[in-house]
Amino acid sequence: MEYFIASDIPAVLEYTKNFYFLDDNEFSVIEKDNINFFDKELNTIYKKYKTINLNCSNSTKNGYEDFMLKEIFEQPKAIANTINKRIVLNTKCNFSDSNLSKYDLINVEEIYIVACGTAMHAGLVGKNIIEKLCKIPTYVEIASEFRYHDPIINKNTLCIFISQSGETADTIAALKLAKGKGCKTIAITNVIGSSITREAHFSFYTHAGPEIAVASTKAYTCQIALLCLLAIYIAEVLESTSFDILENLKSELLSLPEKIELVLQNKEEIKKIAKQVYLEKDIFFLGRGIDYAISLEGSLKLKEISYIHSEAYAAGELKHGPIALIENGTYVVGILTDNELISKTISNLQEVISRGAKIFVITNQELFNNTFDLVFNIPKTNSLLSPILSIVPLQIFAYYIAKEKELDVDKPRNLAKSVTVE
Ligand code: AGP
Repeated sequence: MEYFIASDIPAVLEYTKNFYFLDDNEFSVIEKDNINFFDKELNTIYKKYKTINLNCSNSTKNGYEDFMLKEIFEQPKAIANTINKRIVLNTKCNFSDSNLSKYDLINVEEIYIVACGTAMHAGLVGKNIIEKLCKIPTYVEIASEFRYHDPIINKNTLCIFISQSGETADTIAALKLAKGKGCKTIAITNVIGSSITREAHFSFYTHAGPEIAVASTKAYTCQIALLCLLAIYIAEVLESTSFDILENLKSELLSLPEKIELVLQNKEEIKKIAKQVYLEKDIFFLGRGIDYAISLEGSLKLKEISYIHSEAYAAGELKHGPIALIENGTYVVGILTDNELISKTISNLQEVISRGAKIFVITNQELFNNTFDLVFNIPKTNSLLSPILSIVPLQIFAYYIAKEKELDVDKPRNLAKSVTVE
């Protein structure tokens, strides 16, 4: 008999699939052929192990140079694994793994999505989808802010907590606070049995497989896909959006893995662009609406692994200050997928071009007579889902810039994969 102690499942997946999970204030005594568990008063607790059916090859690089690149390329499969079992055409999405019912949803007056970092950025995309489909006001908050400002929430508030690891200290504290105030709580996480799932009333898993690189990629796109399914399910239960619109969205979700493959096939195009810009000191990301949410994530990805200073702005905010930073040669990435806002963003990009900025645009539209330096095209999809496609070139962009700078993309300086302390 062998026992291993680890803070994360993938660390020992090569040796075992059976895991005991320790909760707060619990202890374990391990002997050669025996294991016992105790609470803080040293009373014995009976625990049964859980079998985690994850493939150990998910925790190796599998021929890729880095985990991050492997995880970027795993996105088509990860999304398919996350959505396929839940999507049922012509009838309600399948959320039967929890008891989330009409009874839990009928009195919901507002929704809070609470998370940190990339998971919070997924929440921003989720807010847009939930409001459009469920017609319920939805707010996104950073967990470390939410937990300390005494949020005005109650039994009619539904709180959704997103965390890849399920172990982020601020997100768990925010969840405990929301429960204490009587809210219904949902956890969206990638790690089976993680702390957040043991706290929340309802838990739903992304099936992205273990994410090892510190920079989150496949977990993010899977979180958005799952949030979209949850929004569809709530809309189905509350009958807040027409059957045809929801069915169309489900079909679009099912076609995403194929469309991500198309983006991945053009990685060399992005690599060339990365070679041109890796020595930049500052890179700005601009977008409006959902493209602003993607700008925030693209900028975070770039700064955390390439150490290039980067900021994301809602394009309409430029005139209110940030445009002062634009000078001859400043590098700006523009995201143009939101049909209704594209002409507005283009005119903001023209303003920075006239001040000497160099522009790299990611778009799903045909741009006629444009004056941009570089344009990367992504496939069209339902506008609610375009973030799942537009983020992929930005992940690859950050990756190749960091590689050009010969940095350790999987383990960037000063960062940890799971932030288990405040
Ligand atoms: C993502 O690239 C970051 N490393 C980081 O922002 C991360 O998303 C954040 O710490 C939240 O982690 P979680 O999803 O495990 O809660």
